[in-house]
Amino acid sequence: MIESQADLHSLVEAFFSNSFSTDNPLITEAVRRMLAAGGKRLRPRTTLLAASACGADPREHLHLAAFMELIHVATLIHDDVVDRADTRRGVNATAVDFGNKISVLAGDYLFAWIFKNVTASYPAPIPHILSATLADICDGEVLQLRALGNLDVGVPDYIDVARKKTASLFAASAACGALAAGGDAASVEALRSYGEYFGIAFQMLDDLLDVCADEATIGKPVGNDLAEHKMTIPLILALRDGNANFSGLVERMYKQDDASVAGQILTTIRENGALDATRAQIAAHVDLALGALAPLGPSPAHAELIALATGLLA
Ligand code: IPE
Ligand code: IPE
Ligand code: MG
Ligand code: MG
Repeated sequence: MIESQADLHSLVEAFFSNSFSTDNPLITEAVRRMLAAGGKRLRPRTTLLAASACGADPREHLHLAAFMELIHVATLIHDDVVDRADTRRGVNATAVDFGNKISVLAGDYLFAWIFKNVTASYPAPIPHILSATLADICDGEVLQLRALGNLDVGVPDYIDVARKKTASLFAASAACGALAAGGDAASVEALRSYGEYFGIAFQMLDDLLDVCADEATIGKPVGNDLAEHKMTIPLILALRDGNANFSGLVERMYKQDDASVAGQILTTIRENGALDATRAQIAAHVDLALGALAPLGPSPAHAELIALATGLLA
């Protein structure tokens, strides 16, 4: 059955190893290195499942799915420069091997290369959706930067950033898969909305992993969000439910740049119920994602999309 995760994954992998190349050998090498390092391929999988849920053969939409992963890879290359992160997918971040300058230019080149090819190959509104998505991602990253160290950031502000920087690409991946498959307006909107709620829950889980996973498992630094003074969902909830002593610690780290309290902050987040409160927020957004799928008829792809979302609760 083509909708199985393993089948879709191998189709996307075969596509990348056979087909990705640009006119610039250094940029091709940098991007291939990041593709070869792995990654969960969630955005292309979302596109293929959305196409399949709308009745199409996902094999006919591999190019479109691959563009979603490439947009993601370009944002990761830039994100690791912005976040000063030195590992990604278990290997050196692009900036470690190629430097910040080449990384910025490689990400820019890749975006331009993607949009040149998408515009040539897909009808409206797909190129427009992807351009608007990239604008949202940058908007979200800038909003996040402007909120660094601001202890007044609340859950709605956080969700606004997560929707823009992360969920917008999942929403676009799902909506474009549905559009390319000729899905009706209700199905496109159902899948777009699923992608958006899934993406918010996914970013919340990513924040949780930064607090409680280990680097070998997630292939990127842990504790980096705190080091960068980010207002993540576990921290926001720990502040909301914590005492003045905890706020004082966070102020020392985020406002007076005293990194020596990082360990105490992490321990408190792990022990004051913030992890469970974060899991409750993730579960609420997974429920919204599942609710969004309701207008779609049953299909193996529909079931896979449900499993993808409930997998965030494991
Ligand atoms: C990382 O995304 C960036 C976020 C939006 C949190 P993924 O966790 O999907 O990264 P890969 O593709 O598996 O490396
Ligand atoms: C994801 O946020 C930002 C992107 C849109 C790439 P993070 O900064 O939390 O992602 P990771 O943790 O570096 O993968
Ligand atoms: Mg980052
Ligand atoms: Mg993160």
